[in-house]
Amino acid sequence: MKKLACWVEIPRITDPRGNLAVIEGEILPYTIARVYYLHDVPSDAYRGGHAHKECEELLVAVSGSFEVVLDNGLKKERVMLNKPNKGLLITKGIWRELDNFSSGAVCLVMASHTYDEDDYIRDYESFLESKRR
Ligand code: TYD
Repeated sequence: MKKLACWVEIPRITDPRGNLAVIEGEILPYTIARVYYLHDVPSDAYRGGHAHKECEELLVAVSGSFEVVLDNGLKKERVMLNKPNKGLLITKGIWRELDNFSSGAVCLVMASHTYDEDDYIRDYESFLESKRR
């Protein structure tokens, strides 16, 4: 069965003074329309819990770590993000839940669309229904 999301290797310029990671050009299948980040997330917090109708997102743990549960309505997969040069590309129509944030974790998100509440499916039963259609 098809993977629920794919990893994107982010090119890095390593340097003893500190590493520099760059996201530009063709690295993503879309032009970035919005950037947001989750920070100061309590370790017992749960984020996400929704799917998008159109929006695609690249998630990067720029600091610390967290886990993402991906769900296409048929299968679920749990992945850990803990590398600033490895992003998780989640396409539309995938339910995602984020948890297990480490202390100091920052989840940077680069999205294909600007914020639109109408693009969200926040009810899990509606999500499953959208997959049956
Ligand atoms: P939500 O997407 O549910 O957060 P998460 O998936 O990380 O748990 O968004 C939480 C709130 O923030 C919700 O009221 C919508 C608002 N929001 C914006 O106004 N703009 C944005 O770009 C995002 C991502 C959320």
